[in-house]
Amino acid sequence: MLDKLEQAKDKTLTAISAADSLESLAEVEIRHLGRKSEMTELLKGLGSLPPEERKAAGRRVNEIKGEVRRALEERRAAVAAAVYDNLAESERIDTTEPGIRPALGHLHLTTQAIREITEIFRALGFVRVKYPEVEWDWYAFEALNMPPDHPARDEWETFFIDAPEDERLGRMVLTPHTTSGDVREMEKKRLPIRMMNISKTYRRQIDVSHVPMFHQFEGLLVDRDVSVTHLKGVLDHFARSFFGPDRKTRLRPFHFRFTEPSFEVDITCGICHGTGEIESGGKCRLCKEGWLELGGAGMLHPNVLKAGNIDPEEWSALAFGWGVERTMMMRSGISIDDIRLLYKSDLRFLHQF
Ligand code: DAH
Repeated sequence: MLDKLEQAKDKTLTAISAADSLESLAEVEIRHLGRKSEMTELLKGLGSLPPEERKAAGRRVNEIKGEVRRALEERRAAVAAAVYDNLAESERIDTTEPGIRPALGHLHLTTQAIREITEIFRALGFVRVKYPEVEWDWYAFEALNMPPDHPARDEWETFFIDAPEDERLGRMVLTPHTTSGDVREMEKKRLPIRMMNISKTYRRQIDVSHVPMFHQFEGLLVDRDVSVTHLKGVLDHFARSFFGPDRKTRLRPFHFRFTEPSFEVDITCGICHGTGEIESGGKCRLCKEGWLELGGAGMLHPNVLKAGNIDPEEWSALAFGWGVERTMMMRSGISIDDIRLLYKSDLRFLHQF
């Protein structure tokens, strides 16, 4: 029996010195020293030896156990030390390796246009502001020279808010245009004014060229002796900066209640360059007559200046207000045949811009 024990010990020691990781050492321990191991089985047989042999055998068994335990602990310490020694290599991080770039989105088309418009007018000293989207009737209409029940109001397809009326300011509406910011700006009494009000506007309309929520940018310049010449200069500067250096604007007489005189602003078409004809001879299909309509503009009506507590004898003002989406879609290079696509949040569409 002792011979067999010596053999089992040798096998165990060989297995211990061959193990090269903490995991394989743990396996060796179970296989050679565990409950079901040969060594354990042999030790069970110790009791069946004759008493005179039992004592010497017991001593030898204890020596073998000690020897195997020591070998196991020494090997474990050596293997653990090697693991730490190799840590720098096994867990090496190559800090020069190029990283994996996370997928990057981009700003919405409308936001890009708003930022660009803001920059263009900033160069002329216009300061970007924002006024409430939920607005009083007074700022949206009455202060703009549109008394209650005036038929001109019908053009603004207004959303009304179900809220108590104010005695002086009237009902609450979702602002149908950014012109409502003009009187708010004048009320601040910081003259002269160069305001660029860009915000969301709302009208009860939806089809290929209308969405109920859209954006407008409104410019207001109040100073002494402001004239239509200044208006034309500002509009030309915008047309050249936003659409390209060869674009021109024209002012077409029109009527708005809050400006006098009032104009519609047109810009030369980017496809036919203002001729209305394409090179091969036919009519330009985009504009038909050489010009595209940008939006409204004019010299602020004296009643509107008065509503903003400004003396129209001393101060005069130019104003213009256009749709952001419309203006951006008119720029050559971007052709969208349904404006509603802008706000459907379909990434296949949005990724293109
Ligand atoms: N607020 C007008 C609209 O929404 C556009 C407009 C016309 C603004 C003439 C102006 C202006 O400042 O002078 O239709």
